[in-house]
Amino acid sequence: MKNIALLGATGSIGKSTLSVIDLHRDQFNVFALSANTNWQQMVKLCNKYQPNFAVMRDEASALELQNALDNDTQVLSGVEALCKIAAHEQTDYVMAAIVGAAGMASSLAAAKAGKRIMLANKESLVLAGDIFIEAVKNSGAELIPVDSEHSAIFQCLQSGKSGLSKIQLTASGGPFLHTPISGLQSITPDEACAHPNWSMGRKISVDSATMMNKGLEVIEAYYLFALKPEQIDVVIHPQSIVHSSVYYDDGSTLSQLGNPDMRSVISYAMAYPNRISAGVAPLDLANNPPLEFYTPDLDKFACLGLAFDALKQGGSAMGTINAANEIAVDAFLNHQIKFLDIPNIIEKTLSQTQHTTLCDLDAIIANDQSAREIATQIVKQHA
Ligand SMILES: NC(=O)c1ccc[n+]([C@@H]2O[C@H](COP(=O)([O-])OP(=O)(O)OC[C@H]3O[C@@H](n4cnc5c(N)ncnc54)[C@H](OP(=O)(O)O)[C@@H]3O)[C@@H](O)[C@H]2O)c1
Repeated sequence: MKNIALLGATGSIGKSTLSVIDLHRDQFNVFALSANTNWQQMVKLCNKYQPNFAVMRDEASALELQNALDNDTQVLSGVEALCKIAAHEQTDYVMAAIVGAAGMASSLAAAKAGKRIMLANKESLVLAGDIFIEAVKNSGAELIPVDSEHSAIFQCLQSGKSGLSKIQLTASGGPFLHTPISGLQSITPDEACAHPNWSMGRKISVDSATMMNKGLEVIEAYYLFALKPEQIDVVIHPQSIVHSSVYYDDGSTLSQLGNPDMRSVISYAMAYPNRISAGVAPLDLANNPPLEFYTPDLDKFACLGLAFDALKQGGSAMGTINAANEIAVDAFLNHQIKFLDIPNIIEKTLSQTQHTTLCDLDAIIANDQSAREIATQIVKQHA
């Protein structure tokens, strides 16, 4: 029986994780659950799964949860409590599924404590890639990606990296793949969040529509698979059936395919190196629509180009674009700025932020804060 600490239990990945656990209650125990403010949903989850710990990032929400529960679950609050359950000696696996930079501290705590980290929170690698990977190596932690593209590459690379020439991440192109740039100015948050293939949280849905999600994934892949930036390629594949590919010097290409459903990826991370059922229907290739592939248009999807540039710059640039993107997406979701302002705000923040080498977590957090402040000022000028 493996004890799972599920960070971000009320989110899209959190729900999919619980539905896989439901199929295998004899193998996985919900040891700890966390959320930010959604204590009402946490009441339901705590009553169903009876975890040892429930952590709310927000203190007032923790009090509400505590008052609503009448079982033995210990309710805690704050970032330190998130780190505590991630590193707890009884925790075996940590599902790191908090959204945004807020997930970094707890995933890093799991990495330092030598856990199996099922990493959905790509921001941990975008902000603190070097420190994170070093912590994994030093502690002997297992790092298993919970992103469909990176899980695909991870699966393709099971026999090693000998003769590897490049990896190719697939991108759906989001809801505006065929919309001309002129049609993007008046996009609403609900239109941006209506992803054609994947059901996800609102922030990552907007990131998919701008293709910043793919940009963050390029950086994530750089750290996960220890590649050079020029070994990472992106191709648009609207059907989201081929999840990503690995190219070899001998002309061979290996790809991983499946229906677009995160439960496959989550179950793989939970059962690795074995495979278990995930409740996902198998592919029916003969009856599937034709598979299409296109080169991304970097004029239209400027965020993708910005992420590649930041990776090549290295140092603080990756954390800066992530922070600016979080501020810009939040402003877009709150109707303060327009869809096409998002890349402009990121670009301006990058040009106004001091570019440095980041040696420790304090420096990473300081850069994140300063980029957020600068981006917030720029948002005010656009609003
Ligand atoms: N959704 C996908 O299909 C998918 C695929 C690949 C990777 N990912 C990655 O997985 C992560 C989670 O994505 P998601 O779509 O599941 O997000 P989501 O649906 O928005 O859920 C986010 C979760 O994080 C919690 N949370 C939000 N802000 C927090 C904070 N400041 N401190 C602590 N917890 C906080 C939320 O709690 P409340 O409910 O209380 O707000 C919720 O449980 C992201 O990094 C995303 O890029 C997602």
